[in-house]
Amino acid sequence: MDKFVIEGPTPLKGTIPISGSKNAALPLMAAAILGDSPTTITNVPKLRDIYTFNNVIRVTGCQVNFDEEQGTLAIDPKHLSHLEAPYELVRKMRASFYMLGALLGKFGQAKVSLPGGCAWGPRPVDLHLDGLREMGADIELEQGYVIASAPKRMEGGTFKLEPSSVGATVNLVLASVLRAEKFTIKNAAKEPDVVLLCKKLVEMGADIEGIGTHTLTIRAVDSLEGITVRNASDRIETGTFMIAGAMHPESEVTLTNVDVDDLGHFPKTFRKTGADMTIEDDTIRISAPEKISPTSVKTQIYPGFPTDLQAQWSTMMTQAAGKSSVTDTIYYDRFSYVPEVVRLGGDMEVKENTVHIEGKTQLKGASVMSTDLRASVSLVLAAMIAKGMSEVLRIYHLDRGYEDLEEKLRSVGAQISRVSQEAEAVTN
Ligand code: EPU
Repeated sequence: MDKFVIEGPTPLKGTIPISGSKNAALPLMAAAILGDSPTTITNVPKLRDIYTFNNVIRVTGCQVNFDEEQGTLAIDPKHLSHLEAPYELVRKMRASFYMLGALLGKFGQAKVSLPGGCAWGPRPVDLHLDGLREMGADIELEQGYVIASAPKRMEGGTFKLEPSSVGATVNLVLASVLRAEKFTIKNAAKEPDVVLLCKKLVEMGADIEGIGTHTLTIRAVDSLEGITVRNASDRIETGTFMIAGAMHPESEVTLTNVDVDDLGHFPKTFRKTGADMTIEDDTIRISAPEKISPTSVKTQIYPGFPTDLQAQWSTMMTQAAGKSSVTDTIYYDRFSYVPEVVRLGGDMEVKENTVHIEGKTQLKGASVMSTDLRASVSLVLAAMIAKGMSEVLRIYHLDRGYEDLEEKLRSVGAQISRVSQEAEAVTN
């Protein structure tokens, strides 16, 4: 298992290109299955979750070609015949559950493993299943699998997502575009990933009304054609590097290839830290403030503060001049990073779904480990400003969602290296 060895503190100076988005690419990949001809997706990052989903799609018989150098993914659904997503793959990545909507929508049948547990508490799929039932599908659960079937045309209906859910919206849209007479999703997610999916399905020939609002109405069409689509830039990676660029008082970073319109209210909240920020086309320049102003946030659905930046923000707040709090209203117990940042010297306490932070603390190097993607990256941020040597263990989480993280950070001055277990065995 690889780990990062990081020596801090180091200011970051230079330019970081933002990669394609993981969470936007996955729904587009599922949508490719619905076409009668191949779809090509560009700006696709080389991430473990993308490779996992490629394999999930391959199991069905689709041809998947990923040109990693170009970031171009071609999916040809012509030979799709096996309507199953097996547990061995779905357990590696929850978004594989998108196969349920895609296969049911295209073929009227699907057998998809339930995703199972998650590193930070319950992440149910009840809304996905109830919504499909409301649409007219028959859903059975057998030995950990969802067995779904539907007639050629389901009547449809109206289903309200409570709470709003990205994944359920994606699954219900995928299932309905070819198969539901008329289906309305209320309180639908309008995260940029969902908006992009819907816009591209319309380009493929789908009939979707209300894109970008909380009410989507879908009317089935007879067929969809493959298209070429540019995947969005990663808004969470963008936010992560904005935070990284504000944590050391001498840092100045420029982020390129940003989809600024996908950031919602985040830049406005970010300015409250006192960081200097200039946005121009697809470029954001950040100069760290001399003193970070303590800025409390609460996670919300888009365009509010994203839960996927909660851990990074709290970590930055250990460097703010005073008290702040960060509340997660989407996932109540996504705080596994807190005891690890405390090991580095952070003054943080979790009460219910809020972490209270007292700044500014001088962090000091230590060994830390974490249980999920965003927690891991927050530990990297902390280690880069901690005095001395830190080890961040279990970095396979990072390979799921941050493309070339150490190369990008090294190129702007971070002292970070990846040590593999084998290499360690030789040096020890
Ligand atoms: N929920 C239910 N029932 C359901 C589905 C969701 O109660 O059937 C609840 C969840 O428990 C949660 C809320 O609804 O409280 C929102 O969850 P959502 O369904 O929107 O999350 P998701 O689709 O499973 C995506 C991202 C996550 C991100 C969340 C929230 C992908 C592949 N994943 O998950 O990203 O945290 O939306 O924005 O798009 C990450 O990238 O690190 C990550 C975890």
